[in-house]
Amino acid sequence: MDRRTFLATAGLATAGLASALGGLALPGAAGTAFAASPVGTTTGRGAASIAGKSLEAALRARQTQRAYAPAPVAEAQLLDLLWAACGVNRPDGRRTAPTALNRQEIEVYVIRADGLFLYDAHAGTLARKSDRDLRPLAGTQAYAATAPVNLVYVADMSKAAGNTPEEKLLTAGLDTGYISQNVYLFCAAAGLATVARASLDAEALGKALGLNSRQRITLAQSVGHPKA
Ligand SMILES: Cc1cc2nc3c(=O)[nH]c(=O)nc-3n(C[C@H](O)[C@H](O)[C@H](O)COP(=O)(O)O)c2cc1C
Repeated sequence: MDRRTFLATAGLATAGLASALGGLALPGAAGTAFAASPVGTTTGRGAASIAGKSLEAALRARQTQRAYAPAPVAEAQLLDLLWAACGVNRPDGRRTAPTALNRQEIEVYVIRADGLFLYDAHAGTLARKSDRDLRPLAGTQAYAATAPVNLVYVADMSKAAGNTPEEKLLTAGLDTGYISQNVYLFCAAAGLATVARASLDAEALGKALGLNSRQRITLAQSVGHPKA
């Protein structure tokens, strides 16, 4: 599935929402140039990974699920999910999720059995950071370690919008929320299970991720195939 297909199959290009929005033309979906499609990702795989669900169907299906089958999430589907989360969707480098003052301060780390990765939204790829299996540190609830994918949202507080630490914390949290909801909707459309998680040991996990003093974990989110 390329980004155009995602928008189309997510229903954004179809009559319902487009007309509800007064015929708003969306880049890519309307067949216009879409230069921001990241390179090296999943162009051309078709719509299978999100099952052609409309935005309304995804909203109806959105839910938290905490039990996961052991099967991994395919790399290509994970990259699609990450693009939906906060990928680049316009030629000027802006993203699928808004951020206050366009600071784009949230990074997404990916914990899997085969290691730790950082999502590079501009390349549309995962950069390996470690070979360690950090799943036991992904959360304080036992099910977190059973999820094949744990996303960890990390804010660079030196970039976050706001005049005070409190304001920066608020905007970092809000900006994370948009990303997390994009992941929820992608999972609902794709038949994946997910849960946003605040329950984690931020100090231990931050250390394992190699975070610096400006970085702060704002939330985690487990993803996997639902347990039958
Ligand atoms: C910011 C945030 C933090 C959350 N933290 C946790 C958590 O630590 N553990 C957990 O099991 N669920 C967590 N959840 C999931 C909520 O419990 C869940 O969204 C809520 O029960 C409503 O269920 P629903 O998502 O199916 O509508 C969190 C949700 C949000 C938005």
